[in-house]
Amino acid sequence: MAVDSSKPDRNLALELVRTTEAAALAAARLVGAGDKNAADQAAVDGMHAVLGSVQMDGIVVIGEGEKDEAPMLANGERIGDGSAPEVDIAVDPLEGTTLTAKGMPNALSVIALAPRGTMFDPGPCVYMEKMAARDDLADLLDLDRPVGETIGLMAERRGCEPGDLTVIVLDRPRHEEGINAIRASGARVRLISDGDVSAVLVAVSEDRPVDLLWGIGGTPEGVISAAAVKCIGGGLVGRLWPRNDDERQAALDAGYDLDRVLTQDDLVQGDDCFFSATGVTDGDLLEGVRYSGASATTESLVMRSRSGTVRRVKASHNRAKMRQLIGSRYG
Ligand code: FBP
Repeated sequence: MAVDSSKPDRNLALELVRTTEAAALAAARLVGAGDKNAADQAAVDGMHAVLGSVQMDGIVVIGEGEKDEAPMLANGERIGDGSAPEVDIAVDPLEGTTLTAKGMPNALSVIALAPRGTMFDPGPCVYMEKMAARDDLADLLDLDRPVGETIGLMAERRGCEPGDLTVIVLDRPRHEEGINAIRASGARVRLISDGDVSAVLVAVSEDRPVDLLWGIGGTPEGVISAAAVKCIGGGLVGRLWPRNDDERQAALDAGYDLDRVLTQDDLVQGDDCFFSATGVTDGDLLEGVRYSGASATTESLVMRSRSGTVRRVKASHNRAKMRQLIGSRYG
């Protein structure tokens, strides 16, 4: 996608927001219904229905569901009306399937888009180590330094106590040692059951109650988060984390360097990516879908890295018209 950076051009994120809104509206009917696969499928269908109308020649490079065999917008699928620009697409129509099924906070629908060939393909690696923080701490992110030491350096940088910092971590047995180290440093820990894209967003956003994201999460979510960080600011570092010897060997055979530390600029290259996220359930950053009589409201974060514009889009959807246009599940 050739870009003349001297003048404004089309901002695809403004079209992408319709796709995350549609996915969120569809999934939101299943909040608390206890069926994560049905919620995921609804989100996939909702996003797919609108994505086809976006003017672009897109290829899905980060598809949904490989880890848990949930329904997916498959990798390699061509999306859009086939006209320029040529782009890579990363989707997570429902980030937080279990959060949605249980009616818990911070479920999102997300999509990221970047020029063709610029998104990192994680190959056989399902998980990666990740750290993310705002700009003032970004140079201190280090996957090799013990996390407790890093927290000490961050507190020093901010001129505060480690206990004034909050670290957000996925609550998983694989993090036990790390969580102990964070606690020992004095920092506060916020454990989350799912949703590390939302956690990255909150860690890099100003005026939010989290200072650092730490831990191992999905690689697709890592690539999507990298696009968000390139738009909103802050830093993210990651490193592929094979689950077992077979995965390690498959990654090595495919030519991956498992020691390589990847920044947001390695995960999404260049400086023209687009990102949209819409809240499904209420969260730290976005309101979830709300219903009021004839309308449903959504809140989305819509961003582009080239301009650095971050928009918060509140939309009111006419439920009857939505049902007529794209099906009963949207209202
Ligand atoms: P789903 O939306 O597919 O359920 O994934 C949510 C999530 O919590 C991600 O945010 C995170 O990166 C990943 O799963 C962690 O994987 P695991 O649950 O296997 O530890």
